[in-house]
Amino acid sequence: MKSCHRFNYFIIFAPTSVYTQKNMKAVSTVKALREELAACQAKKIGFVPTMGALHEGHISLVTRARKECDVVVASVFVNPTQFNDKNDLKNYPRTPEADAEMLEAAGVDFVLFPSVEEIYPEPDTRQFDFGQIDKVMEGATRPGHFNGVAQVVSRLFAIVEPTCAYFGEKDFQQIAVIRAMVKQLGLKVEIIDCPIVRDTDGLARSSRNLLLTPAHRAAAPHIYEVLSAAQAKVGEMSPAELTAWVTAEVEKNELLKVIYFAAVDALSMQTIEKWSDAERVQGCIAVQAGEIRLIDNIKLK
Ligand code: PAF
Repeated sequence: MKSCHRFNYFIIFAPTSVYTQKNMKAVSTVKALREELAACQAKKIGFVPTMGALHEGHISLVTRARKECDVVVASVFVNPTQFNDKNDLKNYPRTPEADAEMLEAAGVDFVLFPSVEEIYPEPDTRQFDFGQIDKVMEGATRPGHFNGVAQVVSRLFAIVEPTCAYFGEKDFQQIAVIRAMVKQLGLKVEIIDCPIVRDTDGLARSSRNLLLTPAHRAAAPHIYEVLSAAQAKVGEMSPAELTAWVTAEVEKNELLKVIYFAAVDALSMQTIEKWSDAERVQGCIAVQAGEIRLIDNIKLK
């Protein structure tokens, strides 16, 4: 029987290049990954889906999966169905060689670098209904985005059949959508949410940070400064007052334009009117920084 752990030498065929890894097996087809995972059935499989351009945030997910699981699988796939803006898809950073090196160093066993045809041999026409969870914030400002996320994540779950899947809390609403999808489809996978990783100046790590101009990169830490200050204002202001305050404070930096800020019930994602409306309240923000859209969030209660 094939061992499913820690290989010695592998060559991968990524869409743009061919390169070698020592301890990780990188494959570009679903069939090849399924064959490798066939030997891992009784094991606890941890899965970290990504769109590449990896950073410390992604690596924290791999590290957690490595600690908790027998086998760690990652995927690197820029999923076209979750982009509602063609330019955003075209410009999304792609760094597959560096990604492979980082994943191997973090202890990944298998990584899938699939083509679009491999994930979508036929167009995915499924329309999910998540009620109000995906109608607000990112869902309201990026139409179709979460349907695309649900399409790709459900496909990847069907391929990998993970025991646990790891997601970063920077995409707070995405985690709620994925949990709703898992429940709706009756999947067995456990969704593990992991804390936001920040640069030393407070900016939440994101692949999109690479695309910021130097001036916007210098402005961006102001978002977290304001979110942190907002935490201290919860006793003094209503959620609506806090929303107006955060918006005005962030926009004191003229390079930052608030797309939305909302104090939401951390389970339903719906805006609250009073702090007592929800057990846990999260402050979620999206900001336009030049051409780049940044999101972040903080626990308010
Ligand atoms: O969070 C992301 O990077 C993506 O939305 C995900 C979950 C990998 C699906 O493409």
